[in-house]
Amino acid sequence: MAAHADDRISNASMENLTRQVEKRPISTIVFIVAMQKEAQPLIERLRLVKDVNSPFPKEVAWVLFKGIYKELNINIVCPGKDSALGVDSVCTVPASLVTYASIQALQPDLIINAGTAGGFKAKGASICDVYIVSSSAFHDRRIPVPVLDLYGVGMRKAFPTPNLIKELNLKVGRLSTGDSMDMSPHDKESITANDATVKDMEGAAVAYVADIFKVPTILIKGVTDIVDGNRPTSEEFLENLAAVTAKLDESITKVIDFISGKCLSDL
Ligand code: ADE
Repeated sequence: MAAHADDRISNASMENLTRQVEKRPISTIVFIVAMQKEAQPLIERLRLVKDVNSPFPKEVAWVLFKGIYKELNINIVCPGKDSALGVDSVCTVPASLVTYASIQALQPDLIINAGTAGGFKAKGASICDVYIVSSSAFHDRRIPVPVLDLYGVGMRKAFPTPNLIKELNLKVGRLSTGDSMDMSPHDKESITANDATVKDMEGAAVAYVADIFKVPTILIKGVTDIVDGNRPTSEEFLENLAAVTAKLDESITKVIDFISGKCLSDL
């Protein structure tokens, strides 16, 4: 009996704490961005500087850019370059690691995962569209065992931002995440089951880690390629990367301006 009463008290105080946090202005934001190229315009616009005393272990290539903009502590964390190949460390494993370490080191009020994605024209997506993600799930974790199947899909709702979406007139869609840029027939089936409008390689992993620590998370994705179109994905991605990055920068700046001075419950 006593243990149950204690549980009730701690649950009630947790709810109070959550409510209090939601009612104070957002102070610290961590952006998780897989490719530094995607983050560069924002780093420049917000005059963020590379942290030379990074809170991360010396062995990792993770890069932290930080600064204060409109009274918000803005941090952009990129997983940096692969030590062997010198390319950006994209995909879910580096994204999970940097999200975990960033939460531990920076204690953000809000995480924003921003980056590029493939879009489905059948779901209304066009090149250069910027989407606010309503929910994220995985499409390459197929485990045909009861309940483990649901764990594999790992569907999570993003933090609800109805006012932000309305004010900025942003498109909203579901995101499906996998570790491949192409789309196998199995992936296609799972993406359809996930009802996804956009497809990326990090979002659901960031959402998974943030959910463990109950850090509210928003995902913003710019469409570089049309997955159900007739162009090769990698060609279309490279061709549109600069233009979409510029569009993302514009939208993210508006998002930050909107967030400034607001509480989580105002979003
Ligand atoms: N990022 C940009 N385009 C993508 C795609 N088609 N699939 C996964 N991630 C992407």
